[in-house]
Amino acid sequence: MVGDPKGAAGPAPAELIRFGEPRRYLVNIDSISTSQLFADCVIVGGGAAGLRAAIEAADRRNGGPQRETGRLGNPNVIVVCKAGLEESNTWNAQGGIASVLREDDTFEAHVADTLRTGGGIADRVVVEQVVRQGPELVRQLQEWGAGFDLVDGRIDTTLEGGHSHARILHAHGDETGRAIAETLIRKVRSKANIRVIENFFTIDLLTDKENRCIGILGYSRDSGLQIVWAANTILATGGGGQLYRETTNPAVATTDGLAMAYRVGAILRDLEFVQFHPTTLYIAGASRALITETLRGEGAYLLDTKGRRFMADYDEAGELAPRDVVSRAILAQMRKTDATHVYLDVRHLDKEYFARRFPLISDLCESFDIDVSHDLIPVRPSAHYMIGGVRTDAMARTNIENLYACGEVASTGLHGANRLGSNSLLEGLVFGTLAGRAVSTSEPSDITSLKHPAIRYNIPASDRSRLDTADVRNSMRSLMWRNVGITRKAQPLAEAQEIIRFWHRYVMDKVFDTPEGWECQNMLTTSQLVAHCAELRKESRGVHYRMDHTQTDDKRFRKHTEIIRAG
Ligand code: FUM
Repeated sequence: MVGDPKGAAGPAPAELIRFGEPRRYLVNIDSISTSQLFADCVIVGGGAAGLRAAIEAADRRNGGPQRETGRLGNPNVIVVCKAGLEESNTWNAQGGIASVLREDDTFEAHVADTLRTGGGIADRVVVEQVVRQGPELVRQLQEWGAGFDLVDGRIDTTLEGGHSHARILHAHGDETGRAIAETLIRKVRSKANIRVIENFFTIDLLTDKENRCIGILGYSRDSGLQIVWAANTILATGGGGQLYRETTNPAVATTDGLAMAYRVGAILRDLEFVQFHPTTLYIAGASRALITETLRGEGAYLLDTKGRRFMADYDEAGELAPRDVVSRAILAQMRKTDATHVYLDVRHLDKEYFARRFPLISDLCESFDIDVSHDLIPVRPSAHYMIGGVRTDAMARTNIENLYACGEVASTGLHGANRLGSNSLLEGLVFGTLAGRAVSTSEPSDITSLKHPAIRYNIPASDRSRLDTADVRNSMRSLMWRNVGITRKAQPLAEAQEIIRFWHRYVMDKVFDTPEGWECQNMLTTSQLVAHCAELRKESRGVHYRMDHTQTDDKRFRKHTEIIRAG
């Protein structure tokens, strides 16, 4: 473990880098002739953070503004999401939520585990805040109907790598994310002043002359381009695993939120820290389904293709080492044994208990004729979580006025250089609540009569050749996997940037009219930024491992990397 587990060295400083990107908007805009909606608050994203923010934003706070703008006199909240509400990383989460619920556990222990894993750059104030709010938010979810698994009438908790105590709570075994999402969706749908618009692709954040956020521009196949003018905007678009060829993330996770925040001038932080999950099902041709880490917490072993249990060669915590250590160990063992994967061995676990505790994984394995009581489960690492994101303060505010960020798209300071398993749902709930509350107590604005500036933006036509964006996207994902993956070094990082720059020239000068084109542009923007930040950090810290700089260099690099668009 590296860094300063007690956070005694104080908050890590930051270095701000300006990075060129001429384009402010992805499409031509003429706001006067575009169809328009109005909201006190628009929330982009329908995962745990976005939904939790919506619930909070929809309630008028005591002492808050006396709004008359929305139905029932309450704030008028619109949630837009790119696909259906069930397509999010939240929905897919298996492991659970980390929270201190047992008598033998303490807030101090959870804080210490989070700081230690964060590699010396997690923010102690934020860590304390998130950890301490956990139990209350969990109880609230229970009140709203989330059926967390119980033993003897109390919430059951289990262990995950990097945690010193069993503090991961789960629901319906490994269907925790789905149970939480369904609870929040029910709550959101019960509120008359929240409108959910699915299958709405947000293209860009709109700003006025002072660069204050005044809403979003989006697109739906039914209505075409649409503006949502909003007094406040909360970005909760989730992550970007699709930047990589191998990922646990759903197809919608294409870094759109990061890219649009970058275009508006929001500061992005620590993009080099991409977390890879050690164990995703490896069956050529099938997508990389997550095999939860709690399986190892409950006794599963890792074997190489020669049948040898190898984790003790790499870390004294064995299978329970932090996931970056396990991911690198698996990669090294795959190279040593000249194999495409390793195995998870659960044959020694009780078959009936396994089916009850891990119904999702049982079904998944069965669907590939893997009988877990006799067969080994082939696994290898995949891109899982973007630790970096849009920089926020401890109240979910970004550097752009009226723009908040929460959930995976945000960099709140909780994770530092490495995320402790199951801390992200917790963070999404805490920062979603904070963002929603900030909005519901902010100054009132009569958005229906507010005079919005007319926005006109014209992109000159380009006569450069067109590339096949589907091909660019696939090639970019392979390039990121090979050159900006679990282990990195200078030359492949430089090569990745050069190739992405080439694609930029031919893709970023075009105006697309479908989500596929905008996604490709967003992914080109963010892959360039991730590769650039990874090149700049010439040390190894947390999930960022440089083969040419294997040590942590606190003197030069105990700092955040911040990047902002130079227009
Ligand atoms: O292994 C898992 O269940 C993953 C949990 C997480 O990413 O927090």
